[in-house]
Amino acid sequence: MSDSTAASATSHPAGLPLTQAFRSQMPVTGRWAYLDHAAVGPLTQAAGEAITQYLQQCTQSGDVHWPQWAAQVEETRQAAAQLIGADPPEIALVHSTTEGITLVAEGMDWAPGDNVVLPAGEFPSNVYPWLNLRDRGVEVRQVEMPSPALDLPRLAQACDRRTRILSCSWVGFASGYRCEPRELAQIAHDCGAYFFLDAIQGLGVFPLDVRACGVDFMAADGHKWMLGPEGAGIAYIRHELLDRLRPNIVGWNSVIERFNYQKIELKLRPEAARYEAGTQNMVGQLGLGGSLRTFLQMGLSPTSNCLAEPVLEQAAWLRQQLDGLGAQVSDLPAAHQSGIVLFRLPEHDPMTVRQRLLERQVVCSCRGGGIRVAIHAYNDRQDLERLLDVVEGMR
Ligand SMILES: Cc1ncc(COP(=O)(O)O)c(C=O)c1O
Repeated sequence: MSDSTAASATSHPAGLPLTQAFRSQMPVTGRWAYLDHAAVGPLTQAAGEAITQYLQQCTQSGDVHWPQWAAQVEETRQAAAQLIGADPPEIALVHSTTEGITLVAEGMDWAPGDNVVLPAGEFPSNVYPWLNLRDRGVEVRQVEMPSPALDLPRLAQACDRRTRILSCSWVGFASGYRCEPRELAQIAHDCGAYFFLDAIQGLGVFPLDVRACGVDFMAADGHKWMLGPEGAGIAYIRHELLDRLRPNIVGWNSVIERFNYQKIELKLRPEAARYEAGTQNMVGQLGLGGSLRTFLQMGLSPTSNCLAEPVLEQAAWLRQQLDGLGAQVSDLPAAHQSGIVLFRLPEHDPMTVRQRLLERQVVCSCRGGGIRVAIHAYNDRQDLERLLDVVEGMR
C-alpha cells in the first residue's frame, strides 16, 4: 500500500509533502506508530527543545533567564491567538481545560433559576464545573442524545430565556463526533446565552476561527492534538466579555502594575491574562509555544484545512480497512468525522487488543467499549498498516 494521501501531494515550507515535513518534527515516529492523540500526544521536536533549554537554563542559572522566558511565554499567547483568529489579549494561559471552564463557570453573575445546557455524555471536565454551581441555584441540563451525533433541535429545545451558557466539546472524546461550533453558537445566541467550546479534542488539527464562528469562550489544554506537555493550555474569552467574568482567583499577576510589589492597587489588567493570577506553568507554556509554532509553520490557520484533510482521509481509509477485516467500526456522517476511529473485535477484549498493539509499538486507548485510534496529520500509511497487521493477526 502506498502513502498517497491528497495531503502528501501538497508541498510545504521544508519543500517536503506535509505528512513527511510534519513527521520530521515528531521524534516519536522513530519508534512508535503513535495513534493516541485523543489521550495524550507526544511532544514536537520544537516543544522538546524549548523544554530542554528551560531545564538547562534553570538548572544552571536559576531565574537569570526569567525575562527571556517571560517574553517567550508571550509568544505562546500570540501563537495561540493567531491559530484561532483571536487577539492576544483574549487569551489566558491556563493549567488545564478544567481551569478554563471553571473561570467562566465561577465568574458569571448567576441568579437562582439560571441554567446551563450541555449534551449528555460530555467529558467530566465539561460537567463538574457546571454541577458545582448547584448551590448557587443553577440548573444543569444534560440533554440526552439518541446517538453519538448531536441532535441540534433537541439542544435548542432545552434552551430557554434562563439559559446563560450552552457548553459543548468540539469533538466527542469517545465517539469522535465533531460538531460545527458555528451552529451551536447560533443556538446559544438565539436564546440570549453564551457559547462555550471545549476545544481540546479538535485544536491542532481542525481550523477554528472563534470570531467567525461566534464562540464566546473556549478552553483547551495543549497535551492532546496540540502536541504540548500536560498542564499547559489556553482559554479564549471574547474581549467584550472580560468584565462579565469576576476573577475567581486574583494575585500579583492579575493587576495592571503587576511588577510593582510595593503598590497594592486592585486594578485588573484589561486582558484575559488577568485570570492567570499567579505564577504560570513557565516550562509547560514554553513547550506548548514550540508546538504551536510548528503548527503555524505547517500552515494551520483559522481557515486552513491543511491538517484536517489528511487526517480525515487517513481515518476514512482506516475505517474501510478495518471493516474489510471484519472489525466493528464506528461510523459518523461525513461532515462530522474527526481523527478518532473506534473499533471492536467481537471475540476480543479491547484491553487485550490494546496490549497486542503496544507489543508492536502501536499506541491506542480503550474507550467507549472498543479501541480508540486517534490519527494526527504526521501519521502515515505505514503507521496504520502496523495497526492493521496486528488486527489481521487476531482475526
Ligand atoms: C473533551 C475533553 N475535555 C477535557 C479533557 C481534559 O480536561 P483537562 O485539560 O482539564 O484535564 C479531555 C480529556 O480527555 C477531553 O476529552
